[in-house]
Amino acid sequence: INIILLGPPGAGKGTQARRLIEERGLVQLSTGDMLREARNSDSEMGKRVAEVMDRGELVTDEIVIGLIREKLGQGGKGFIFDGFPRTLAQADALQALMAEMDQRINAVIEMRVDDGALISRITGRFTCGNCGEVYHDVTKPTKEAGKCDVCGSTDLRRRADDNEDSLKTRLMEYYKKTSPLIGYYYVKGNLKTVDGLANIDDVASEVAKVMDKIP
Ligand code: AP5
Ligand code: ZN
Repeated sequence: INIILLGPPGAGKGTQARRLIEERGLVQLSTGDMLREARNSDSEMGKRVAEVMDRGELVTDEIVIGLIREKLGQGGKGFIFDGFPRTLAQADALQALMAEMDQRINAVIEMRVDDGALISRITGRFTCGNCGEVYHDVTKPTKEAGKCDVCGSTDLRRRADDNEDSLKTRLMEYYKKTSPLIGYYYVKGNLKTVDGLANIDDVASEVAKVMDKIP
């Protein structure tokens, strides 16, 4: 089974992807995580990627499609695409890559939220630098202050692009370049919408319902 999680920054894609890995053994392919890894490398490409990401703009299709192609080649039981595709060109490229592997996208899950909620989601977010668990100051704090519930690490980080200015640009990029994918997948017939404003467990059960209906 291969699925896409589609939604604006802060919609909860990463949070739900992590649950699906645990519960269904799928492999998460987050282009955001891959790019954050690339920016930490000392390469010229890494530096360019860092600047673009911090402004909240999209990285070029060429770079992200290359990253995805590499990961798909490593195989797996099924993939959760998180934050990819984000443009029509990326969607077409994904379809071609899947066809090459004799596979298809079984469902595209649109996580619908309103913009007002996104600012507090994004500005309250922090992540464990060791295991990647995603937290929130208000909606999902750690049980013990400053310490990851999952792995006990004290390396809790905030992202450089999680500020109001970059978020505005990220939202604008979303509406201009990514939201047309909702229509694209609707026409293809595999778009499913869940209410991303519900609490994390309720969103997870909506997502599970969609997954269980995949033949
Ligand atoms: P990326 O890393 O993909 O970021 P994003 O799309 O902006 O999404 P986020 O990670 O911000 O949000 P999310 O939906 O995963 O929410 P989360 O679960 O963390 O991309 C970053 C940058 O990389 C882009 O700006 C671009 O530059 C580049 N990039 C990446 N992919 C690209 C591509 N394909 N093409 C070109 N460029 C690309 O949740 C957010 C917060 O809310 C957390 O604190 C969480 O605890 C909390 N929360 C989650 N769900 C709920 C809930 N139901 N109720 C209450 N709180 C919740
Ligand atoms: Zn951790």
